Order: sequence, then structure tokens, then C-alpha cells
Amino acid sequence: MRKLICWLGALFFSYIAISQKTISQKVDSVLALMTLGEKVGQLNQYSGDWISTGPITPEGDKQDQVRRGQLGSMLNIMGVRHTRLLQEMAMQSRLKIPLLFGQDVIHGFKTTFPIPLAEAASWDLEAIERSARIAAIEASASGIHWTFAPMVDIGRDPRWGRVMEGAGEDPYLGSLIARARVRGFQGKGLGDLESLMACAKHFAAYGAAIGGRDYNMVDMSDRMLWEVYLPPFKAAAEEGVATFMNAFNDLNGIPATGSHYLQRDILKGDWKFKGFVVSDWGSIGEMIPHGYAKDSYQAAEIAIKAGSDMDMESRSYKGHLAQLVKEGKVPVSLVDDAVKRILTKKFELGLFDDPYRFSNAEREKRALNNPAHVKAAREMAAKSIVLLKNEKGYLPLSKETKKIAFIGPLVKEVKQNLGFWSIEMPDDSSYIISQWQGMVNKLGNESRLIYAKGCGIEDTSRAGFAEAIAVAQSADVVIMSVGERRDMSGEAKSRSRLHIPGVQEELIKAIHATGKPLIVMINAGRPLVFEWTAENVPTILYTWWLGSEAGNAIADVLFGDYNPSAKLPMTFPRNEGQIPIFYSHFNTGRPAPDDKSKNYRSAYMDLSIHPKYEFGYGLSYTSFRYDNLLLNKKTMEENETIEVSFTLTNTGRYAGEEVVQLYLRDRVGSVVRPVKELRDFKKVKLEPGKSAVVKFIINKEKLSFYNSKLEWICEPGEFDLMIGASSADIRLRSEFQLE
Ligand code: NOJ
Repeated sequence: MRKLICWLGALFFSYIAISQKTISQKVDSVLALMTLGEKVGQLNQYSGDWISTGPITPEGDKQDQVRRGQLGSMLNIMGVRHTRLLQEMAMQSRLKIPLLFGQDVIHGFKTTFPIPLAEAASWDLEAIERSARIAAIEASASGIHWTFAPMVDIGRDPRWGRVMEGAGEDPYLGSLIARARVRGFQGKGLGDLESLMACAKHFAAYGAAIGGRDYNMVDMSDRMLWEVYLPPFKAAAEEGVATFMNAFNDLNGIPATGSHYLQRDILKGDWKFKGFVVSDWGSIGEMIPHGYAKDSYQAAEIAIKAGSDMDMESRSYKGHLAQLVKEGKVPVSLVDDAVKRILTKKFELGLFDDPYRFSNAEREKRALNNPAHVKAAREMAAKSIVLLKNEKGYLPLSKETKKIAFIGPLVKEVKQNLGFWSIEMPDDSSYIISQWQGMVNKLGNESRLIYAKGCGIEDTSRAGFAEAIAVAQSADVVIMSVGERRDMSGEAKSRSRLHIPGVQEELIKAIHATGKPLIVMINAGRPLVFEWTAENVPTILYTWWLGSEAGNAIADVLFGDYNPSAKLPMTFPRNEGQIPIFYSHFNTGRPAPDDKSKNYRSAYMDLSIHPKYEFGYGLSYTSFRYDNLLLNKKTMEENETIEVSFTLTNTGRYAGEEVVQLYLRDRVGSVVRPVKELRDFKKVKLEPGKSAVVKFIINKEKLSFYNSKLEWICEPGEFDLMIGASSADIRLRSEFQLE
């Protein structure tokens, strides 16, 4: 039996080896036929000119370039009709090399899932993977081969509008989510009809733009880069992500697009990444305003040498790469390497066998109308909602409640629910469930609901206040839906003031003054600032942007059909002055023990150092007790492990899930270590009154960090172990020793 298994194993690996070799041989044979112009063409990517009838103008330069084999890929072309049309043009080229179609499929395709930051709040890796899987099934059925996702940038500055697109502030959680998303998008692997190539972006450190201003300079220590910003990228590479995208920012004075260190030394060198790197939109050309290249000729030279394989929309490669090779400034081997990486993916996707294999209209129709996808989106949305406060137990609402006032500028909005990076189906929004519709669906009809808008999102008119107050006064309970517009967070959506926009918080105060039971829902793509509401309103839900099933999911949570289980993946500051703020900071030489004793301590004179809501925070309709912490030993050697266990009990009245979080602190190190670092977590579901024993394993990996030489090591010494319901709500503590 063992022999048979060995033999089958050997057969499997030789099969893999042969098929690998076959692809690389095929790539070589295509490469051998290519002119320099055709090679450069493969490194060139354009956007489709999306117009109402479709992306293709009947005649035009782009189409001619496709027919002449001068284009490797297009983005912003969707639907089998359009992708097929363009692929047919590519098939008129001399070598018939198929095009790759890329798209920002960030949180769902037609079925829109919550924005990535919201999904991260679920801490539910399986659900996150499923969300990416469904996005891939729908997008691949619409002719798309490649998504520019996941964005794995760490986000610690909510002024930066793109925090909505990432997984929050923590490298450990961020890495696991990066892996889950890559697995979800790529599914069974390239070649399967339901797989998309994923793209880890933006390499690297784009999330650390100074002042939270998008595209701004980034200046950071090696420690911060390696311990915080790189791990999710490394995780994505290890998970087999097909592509990387570089970034708009410079890193310590070198634009990421021109960084040999990032792309060749780390990514293609140390991490042995075999896929290809696409530039961000125009970022090769942007090395000119960066002051790193004097013209696009030099920009092209720098970028190809640094390891950027495909030029998204800057046209620097198209304009200059052939000439750079002819003049001996760029070795043709660099161009060949980039072309090979791209052709390899086209072979792996099966496009050389059948360039139209992702262009099946029947399949498209089926995939875009699948009730199972809608159900999954509703579940994911419910899992993403964070219960911030439920002081008076107003939630869950009774389905018998007689009159419910639903007030606020976002109640009846439809498309706002989709969030910034959503893909809208042309001429159809019937599949998007507004928050109002969700309530109507839950209650069966509108008879017990009353509505007032109250005010706009940003405008400063209070003209609607009186009506809203009257509506509130006539109800048994008031639910308010306030927040940002969906396009106030996202790319190029940095903001310096993070308060709930316009006069919305004033409206909350006015409704609060009626004395009616009040529930406030805040919709946003980032942590907002709402100090007054947080202090005074008894019940608050953070609902982010939840996608096409937002309304149904919100109603599920409001009425207790889903018990909230989400936990914040990003610290919520009290006000903008605390930013950047994150839980895993250093202790400093003068830590402030509390907000009262802060003289000559690391503190603000006029503001608490503590956030409004900390990383890992989120409530449930039930409550959990943590006890019986046991460590099977108190000392370990590097090659040993410690088993940690404790008992979690659901002490409330509802079934619920708790995200139990394990944090460690290395008390003394050869470099300073954070006050705590998330090193493990589990999401545990329990019926009321039931208990479970939760186990964690401490191993060398969990104790390791980068020393001053950037070696990944662990050091003997004492460690604090903390288990909690958030990064601040630590319920159990112990310590152990590494010998
Ligand atoms: C620029 C964004 O930074 C990037 O994330 C996106 O994929 C490209 N535009 C293409 O839309």
C-alpha cells in the first residue's frame, strides 16, 4: 500500500513537472516567434473607453493596436459580448496571442458584498473566502480573467480613504485575510473556468501615506516595513497569488514602481514570486512628477529594470522600451522575462487553447442570477455589522413593535449601500436591497414603519428636522441611518475631518432629545468620529457599506435573526488629533498609566490617549464568560510548544459567536516589542448556557520578530499572554518563558 502511495505521489509530481515544463516550453516557443514590437505589446495594458452602450468605439487606435498585437491586456471591459469582441480582434493579430481582461472586482461583482474593511470585521475567514469565490464565479462568467484584488495594504490612518478596501490595521489578521481572499479568487487554480487571477496590491506601504493623504510620500523604518506592512504581501505570495501591483507612493525616496529593492530583491528574489507585476495606473509615468525620472523614456528604463512587468496606462513601455533595447540601455532578457511571466499566465488560464472560454453568454446569465450568491451576500453582510453599544438592551427589536420610525438620509438610498468599489449593472438596480426595503421585507409590509429623511448627507439645512422630530415622537422606537456618502471613502477620498458629515449629528441630538428609544446606524467606509453620539446614544451599530443585501442583513440584525459577532479590525479614534492610532504600539520610556496621571508622560494634555473603540472591539446580544485558563507548561524551548486552553461560556439569553483573541507581549527584546500583538484568534459559536474549551498552541513562530539585522528570530525571555474579547478587554492573563 505504502509503495503504491509513493508511486502515485511520484506520478503526480512528475505529471506536475511535465505540465509545468510544457507550459514553459510553449511560452518559449511563442517568445521565439515574437518581434521586439510584439514583445513590448504584451507589456502594455489599456483601459476600455466605457460608454453607455459598451466599452468599444467602432473604430479607433486601441482596436488597431489590438489587431496588430500591440496590447497584452485591457481593464474595464466587462461582459461576454464585449470581451469576445475584443478577443476576436486579438485573434486577427499575427501571432493570435489572446488578451487578458482585468477589472477591479474588489467586493463582489453583480452580487455586491460588504466593503473589504467591513468583511474583515467578521474575522470569519471562511466567509471572506466564500465572498471572493462568488465574486470570481460571477466575474469569470462575464469574461474577466483577473481581479485587481485583494488590496492588502495595512491601514492605520482613517483619513486615508482607501482603508475601506483593506483588512484594517493588524498584520496578523491582515495576512490571514489576504490568504483567504487569494484562495477565494483563485479557487481551484488558474485554468478552472471559475477562477480569477488575484493581484496583491499595492506593493508596498501605500497605506502609510503621510497625513493620510492619498498618493503621498511614505517614509518608514525597516522595522515597520517588515513587521507591519510586508507580512500580508508575503502571505499572499505564499498562497500563490498570480500577480502583484506596485504602488503610486515612494518608499523612503524611491517610487515603488521604480524600486528594485521591493520588486526584484524582495518579491522576485527572496520570495521567489513567479507571477508578474503590473504597475498601478500610470505609475510608471508618475515617476516624472516624483522627480525620479526626467522623461517617460527614462521612466520606462527604470521601471523595467526594477521589475515592473506590465505598464497600466502610462504608455511608457509602448513609447520607449523597444528603443531602449535597441540602444543597449535595457537588455532584451529583461523584456523577455516580463513577457514570459505574462504569457505563462495566459497559458495557465487556458486562453491559448480557447481564447473565448470565458465568453459564454449562457453561463454569464446563470452566474449573475444565482440565489445562493445572494444568500451568501446577506450572511456576509450580517457578519460584518459591529454592535458598538446596546446599553439599554433595545436590540434585538421585537417583531411585534407597533410603530418604528426610520429616520435619516441613508434610509431610502439604494446604490449608496454598494460602497465605493462596486460594479453596477447597467440600467438595473432592482437587485439592491435598500435599508428601507429590508425593513419592509422583514415586517411584511410598510404599515408599522414611518419615515423622515431629516437632512441630507452633507448639506447644512435643518429644514427637515421638525418633520423628523414629529415622526420620532409618534413612534415606539426610532432607528436612524446616518453616515458618509459611499464615495467619501475610497481612492483619492482622503479627508481631514472624520465627523459624521453635515448636520447629521445635530439631527441625532434632536431626535435623542425626544426621549424615544434610539438606535443609530452609522454607514461609512472608514472609522468616523462621533464622540457625542458614542457618549449619549444608547444603541449604536456600525454598518459600513454592506453591498446589495445591505437592507436584508441590517433587518436580520435589528430583529435578532442574526446576533452580531463582528469586531473592529481598526481602531476608532476619539478625534482626528489621535491619528495614527493603533493597538500594537510601543510602551515608550514614559507610558501614561491612565488619563489622569499624564504629567511628563507620553500623552496629550487636552485629549485621552485611549481610542473611542479599540481594535478587536464589538458586542453581541449575548454575553460570554472566560475562565479556567490553563497552560500545559510555563517554560518552553524553541522547538517545543505550549498548549493554552480556557473555558468560554455563553452566559446570556441568545445563541451567539465570540471572537476570542490571543495577544502576546515579549517583555524585553533586543529591539523594543509592542505592548501587545495579536497572535491567534478563534470564532466560537455557543448556544445559551453552553461552554466550550478553546485551545491555542504557542510555538516559535508566534514568538518571533525581526531583529535589528532583519532576521526572523525569537529570543529567550518572558512573555505575557493575554486572552480577551478585544485588544483592551483582556479577560485572562498569564505568562511563560522561552528558554
Ligand atoms: C488605481 C488604483 O490604485 C488601483 O488599485 C486600481 O486597481 C487601478 N486604478 C485600476 O482601476
